[in-house]
Amino acid sequence: MPHITEIEDLKRIYKRRVPKMFYDYCESGAWTEQTFRENSSDFDLLRLRQRVAVDMEGRSTATKMIGEDVSMPVALAPVGMTGMQHADGEILAAKAAEKKGVPFTLSTMSICSLEDVARETSKPFWFQLYVMRDQDFVANMIARAKDVGCSALVLTLDLQILGQRHKDIKNGLSAPPKLTPKSIANLATKWSWGLDMLKTPRRQFGNIVGHAKGVTDVANLSAWTAEQFDPRLDWDKVAKLKEQWGGKLILKGILDVEDAKMALKIGADAIIVSNHGGRQLDGALSSIRILPEIIDAVGDQVEVHMDGGIRSGQDVLKAIALGAKGTYIGRAFIYGLGAMGQKGVETALDVIHKEMDFTMALCGHKNIEDVDRDILLIDDDFYRWRRNT
Ligand code: GLV
Repeated sequence: MPHITEIEDLKRIYKRRVPKMFYDYCESGAWTEQTFRENSSDFDLLRLRQRVAVDMEGRSTATKMIGEDVSMPVALAPVGMTGMQHADGEILAAKAAEKKGVPFTLSTMSICSLEDVARETSKPFWFQLYVMRDQDFVANMIARAKDVGCSALVLTLDLQILGQRHKDIKNGLSAPPKLTPKSIANLATKWSWGLDMLKTPRRQFGNIVGHAKGVTDVANLSAWTAEQFDPRLDWDKVAKLKEQWGGKLILKGILDVEDAKMALKIGADAIIVSNHGGRQLDGALSSIRILPEIIDAVGDQVEVHMDGGIRSGQDVLKAIALGAKGTYIGRAFIYGLGAMGQKGVETALDVIHKEMDFTMALCGHKNIEDVDRDILLIDDDFYRWRRNT
């Protein structure tokens, strides 16, 4: 058992174990990847105030996200094709989340289906929905999510069209992988991944295949999104979907105060400040930089969550200090999953928890719910990008 002390350790093992096509899919941003990089590097503009001689016994990172008890304010983000990073990946990640007391979000573009994950877990999970042109299919997905007892719908608003990630095109990304001389050469070196994959029947988009009509190429994510995703999604449709669902609604992909106000008007239970991990609009501001402005505008009226760039418990604590009520990790748990399955996701969550808890203590707090901007030292440059008004 290798010694894992940080998320980067899991990433190293993950890179060795998983086919290049899926590693690249995870580890890419759109175009120049500026936003992808800055999502992480902008956390460096926030430093921490060390405080001393403060009783630190009996600490707690427990809190609530949309009214649900969580052991720490960290959920697993919806990640497409998780079941290609490790056989039955969504089931394993959901089990890890359940064990560690944090929410799991299943992507529409998952390999394991809603029903697969529900069968293998006992706690309700969250379901992320993409809006498709085919309204019957959307209605059916919502009904299926209700049937299996999902406790929140996470509606993604920033992907009506798919951002271009160069490597995915060059690699011919597909699920299952297409067998070309190049992909075969790479797969041949990933035998433990392949053996696990041969043992599971789940190698296609499980929520789609057999459920959507007239789908021509379900293996190719970019062809499929171009064909099926609804480019006409607007706030009226969001309001209708809210009604159709009738339960807790989280709107994902908010990166602007005006949109946060629209989400508030719709009556969302929470919003996720997100640029889709830098995978959509390259050149957009990092999530952590835009977060305080959105919290200042709507944070007293709607729960504000964030994702993007989190690779440590210190990153989580900084987002919470700015006022986020919850955060999501995507790549950080995928590294763990690809490296060592369920155990790897549990390890990723343990690493993040330990870093968060330790940091909170040395910043003079015992309870995550008491942490605020007071623990931060903020670089003047942090607020550098302003609208031209
Ligand atoms: C889909 O959600 C993607 O970012 O690839």
